Amino acid sequence: MPRPIRKAVFPVAGLGTRFLPATKAMPKEMLTVVDRPLIQYVVDEAREAGIEHFIFVTGRNKSVIEDHFDKQYELESTLRKRGKSLELDLLEQDLPGAGETSFTRQQEPLGLGHAIWCARHLVGEEPFAVLLPDMIMKASPGCLAQMVDVYNRRDGGNVIAVEETPWEQVHRYGVVGGADWQDNHFTVTQMVEKPKREHAPSNLIISGRYILQPEIFRELDRQETGAGGEIQITDAMKRMMWSQHFHGVKYDGVTYDCGDKVGFLAANIALALEREDIAPAFREVLGKVIPQHGGKLSWG
Ligand code: G1P
Repeated sequence: MPRPIRKAVFPVAGLGTRFLPATKAMPKEMLTVVDRPLIQYVVDEAREAGIEHFIFVTGRNKSVIEDHFDKQYELESTLRKRGKSLELDLLEQDLPGAGETSFTRQQEPLGLGHAIWCARHLVGEEPFAVLLPDMIMKASPGCLAQMVDVYNRRDGGNVIAVEETPWEQVHRYGVVGGADWQDNHFTVTQMVEKPKREHAPSNLIISGRYILQPEIFRELDRQETGAGGEIQITDAMKRMMWSQHFHGVKYDGVTYDCGDKVGFLAANIALALEREDIAPAFREVLGKVIPQHGGKLSWG
């Protein structure tokens, strides 16, 4: 068996300018999808995949994230006094255990590769996962668990989750090209960050989940800038492709790009419709609201 994936890095230093003014005083990772902050979905996904140590790369104005993953004694005692055991259980479930979280800061917004590099001392010399909280995956088992499965079956290496996207959107993402398909995975042979449509090797985009070997930090040490003048993780992985294997995993599930307003709204609708406690009333509301705006809705 390859070395287990015990640690996950969550880059959460981004400014969230696309969601201003909502993100003026609140981190974008705390925006809620139904009733949970975005960051909670990815932490849950990591936990399900066996992660034991959650490393957050934060920035200024992000301390609420640290508070979110801490106990809130006043709140808990009030809920206890009021007999709200359901809410108490929910808070308990969401909380990582004592000593399972670490926080470090990316002091300057120099790119995703730089943010991951800021976690190098906390990760140390072992393989680790990276999860971008902008991307919410609805998958069972979760996307990272599916990647860990391929990692174990293929005896280690690096793993990137990919998904097909319409060609007119490839310029917004990292894109891979591959060969040697075996059921849900393949060997990554090309990578390019935010290519023009005509330069994209495929329409398979890097969807914000990675399993990386620690040698990636040696590549990031070079601090080379790429697309948008930023230090890109895609470029560091591309350089490492000469010496290490990269598996692409086309995971089974649906992704919502919550870094984009439409994707964020879609995630809210889709996840609300899956909640037994909300779905019946919400369907009724949608049935009224959508025709009021000239749309048609048929529940089939
Ligand atoms: C980052 C990565 C890109 C990936 C994307 C997924 O881009 O650099 O390769 O496809 O996340 O969300 P960003 O969203 O930071 O521009």
